[in-house]
Amino acid sequence: METLAILVAAGRGERMGASRPKAFLALGGKPILLWAAEAFASAPSVDALVAVVPAAELEDARELLGPLSKLRAVTRGGSRRQDSVLEGLKQAPDGFDGIVLVHDAARPLVEVGTIEAVVHAARETGAALPMLALADTVKRVRAGRVVETLDRTELAGAQTPQGFRFALLVRAYEAAFRDRVTLTDEGVALERLGHPVAAVAGTARNRKITTTEDLSWAEDLLLRERGRVAP
Ligand code: C5P
Repeated sequence: METLAILVAAGRGERMGASRPKAFLALGGKPILLWAAEAFASAPSVDALVAVVPAAELEDARELLGPLSKLRAVTRGGSRRQDSVLEGLKQAPDGFDGIVLVHDAARPLVEVGTIEAVVHAARETGAALPMLALADTVKRVRAGRVVETLDRTELAGAQTPQGFRFALLVRAYEAAFRDRVTLTDEGVALERLGHPVAAVAGTARNRKITTTEDLSWAEDLLLRERGRVAP
């Protein structure tokens, strides 16, 4: 096996205010998690998939993802995102020395092109992630007052999948857990070690579904693409 993809779907999705975790909400008639899993299953360079889900969803997730031939494991997540990623890393085969991809299942519309670009760059450099330029002017605010306007040309939003040589990510994770650091993505764990992280082009379509507005945006996009609604 050369490339293992870990889909983290164990968040509670509280900002969505729904009764089920957001990865299990329907988008265009199928669960968000299945959209993400199918994208990775159809990426030529991905060999195996691991899904990390809330304990209460284990059975349903196994049934949902079971038909995917690349599925390696469905396992339960932890309380923080990084705890869920750690559970996914434990599912790698013994002696694995390929590329590991970590992806937010909450980004269901990730393109195969992005997955392939991240794998390619991670093979070359050891660590890579998709970045998307910011549309808004970004300011630093303290206690309700703008203190600074940042140079937008140097800023971008980090997306997933984030790809790494497996041993490198494990080393970075061990250091972060030892130092009790909260990680908002995997890239920051590498940056702490001073390891370079390559940026590949992100896309607007690979947006994270966090709120009901994000879900409506994704539904509208799919409807337009299916030609049922004029653009
Ligand atoms: O909370 P946030 O939107 O940043 O979560 C990003 C991704 O990490 C989501 O796909 C979510 O399901 C996952 N996650 C997880 N375990 C947690 C928290 C978040 O797998 N404890």
